[in-house]
Amino acid sequence: MRRKLAAGNWKMNGTRAALAEVDTLGAPKGPSEVLICPPATLIAAAAGRVDGIAVGGQDCHAAEKGAHTGDVSASMLADAGATHVILGHSERRADHGETDAAVRAKTEAAWAAGLVAIVCVGETLAQREAGETLDVIGAQLDGSVPDGATAATTVIAYEPVWAIGTGKVPTNDQIAEVHDAMRERLKNRFGAESDGMRLLYGGSVKGSNAAEIFAVSNVDGALVGGASLKAADFGPIVEALDAAS
Ligand code: PGA
Repeated sequence: MRRKLAAGNWKMNGTRAALAEVDTLGAPKGPSEVLICPPATLIAAAAGRVDGIAVGGQDCHAAEKGAHTGDVSASMLADAGATHVILGHSERRADHGETDAAVRAKTEAAWAAGLVAIVCVGETLAQREAGETLDVIGAQLDGSVPDGATAATTVIAYEPVWAIGTGKVPTNDQIAEVHDAMRERLKNRFGAESDGMRLLYGGSVKGSNAAEIFAVSNVDGALVGGASLKAADFGPIVEALDAAS
């Protein structure tokens, strides 16, 4: 059985006042794992704040330390109280030119620091319209997920670039097609270990569409952006996931 995961990605949103939202969300009442990934400045203050709410980073450098002005290492995230880190988000890939190889190196760094890596993949609208979706996702998985991935160390998030922050959501069939293909590809590479790897869907998940998305085959939770910023929006998503467990 895969434990469902509701992960909130605050992106570059929130100052200390926003931590009140974590308090309002409160200790999880259901079986789902709940994770908040706030900006790096808030990790230490968010970690351990509410029982049962895990805290993660949104990126890390591949190196453990050194002359990399402005960057944060995986061990620094762990030291601040993070247990997870999002890697290879499409905004990182687009804004910072992160390649699959870079994401792979960061994932290895995350594991070395004891963090669970949430590795993101997703096609652009042009790639979907060209019928390249499964090829793109397959290549990103192959390139971004290092050898030795286990269910305990690695979560995959499928986030179609065109669905992020747009209010557009793929159909259930489109989500199922990608999630089933990802499961198959991971099985070919990692064997039985892949059965336990969680596959999250991300992109315009909200309270009103969560239950429908969580009913889709091989969807083990969600990576939520905009709707994770307020407890009033994220709470119902967590509840929908609990109900799907
Ligand atoms: P969104 O973002 O929920 O605001 O679409 C999802 C994400 O980028 O992780």
